[in-house]
Amino acid sequence: MNFPLDKEKRLIWSTARSCLENNKFKHKRFGGKQKSHWTLFERFVLVGSYFLRIGPFYRIGNDNAKNIIVNRIDVPTPHCPHAFDGYKILHLSDLHLDCVKGLEDIICDRLQNLSYDLCVITGDYREKTHGGYKQILAPLQKVINSIQARDGILAVLGNHDTYLMVPDFEKMGIRMLMNETVQIQRGDARLSITGLDDPSNYYTDAALHALEEEKDGCKIVLAHSPELYDMASVNGYKLYLCGHTHGGQICLPGGIPVVTHLKTGKKFFRGLWQYNGMVGYTSQGVGASGIPVRLNTKSEITLLTLSRR
Ligand SMILES: [Fe+2]
Repeated sequence: MNFPLDKEKRLIWSTARSCLENNKFKHKRFGGKQKSHWTLFERFVLVGSYFLRIGPFYRIGNDNAKNIIVNRIDVPTPHCPHAFDGYKILHLSDLHLDCVKGLEDIICDRLQNLSYDLCVITGDYREKTHGGYKQILAPLQKVINSIQARDGILAVLGNHDTYLMVPDFEKMGIRMLMNETVQIQRGDARLSITGLDDPSNYYTDAALHALEEEKDGCKIVLAHSPELYDMASVNGYKLYLCGHTHGGQICLPGGIPVVTHLKTGKKFFRGLWQYNGMVGYTSQGVGASGIPVRLNTKSEITLLTLSRR
């Protein structure tokens, strides 16, 4: 499906994103700071992974990370037009394709025999938050080749991603949404889908303007993290799809997270949630980052079905 692109708006976005990236400046909606804490977190992960390799937990956790489940979720969307009742969205998030070895083949295997109308990807394609990204292009292409969606593939960037990826991804047939909205039509009925740049590290007011723009039809937002849930709700969005947290990735027994990497919306760190008439889904993610291990969480591919009931 071909969605129109506003080239001028895209150029303004990439200029702002490159300034933040090149100055290592992290910007959330309530302010910004230098990203030195990422270096500290990476060191913490390095030390943690060393100790994890001593016991059996590394092997068990790596097996867990490769055991991707297909999570089928009915999403209550009573305001959605009748024409989209039963509409299926394949939701992938946090692929981190260069972390867990062979992940792309497992994903392709899980995608076999699934049918859906649209695929959305909510950011984080590589493991690290900086450096090169070419290593993830071949595995991503493999995954994209195994996706068959009538309405195409829409995606946003996460905090691990760079603006430089966008042209390569769009050559693969992914329509990247950088604070932009596209519409999907069935007769007179419409879905308006707004994709935002990563709210956790690269928030700018362009995201707010994208949410505030007038649009018709049932409004869905794609963002890397759930941190803009209230802004989306107040602007009439009915569905918010995101990831970022990995469901905690390495959790205590009972799935209790140690880290969620959220400043706001912490209670929306995993699964289906509701806020003020809007439904949200926070994916636990397909891949892992930092260390290719999951404990007490599941890697997931999500198949969402919009339901008016
Ligand atoms: Fe991630």
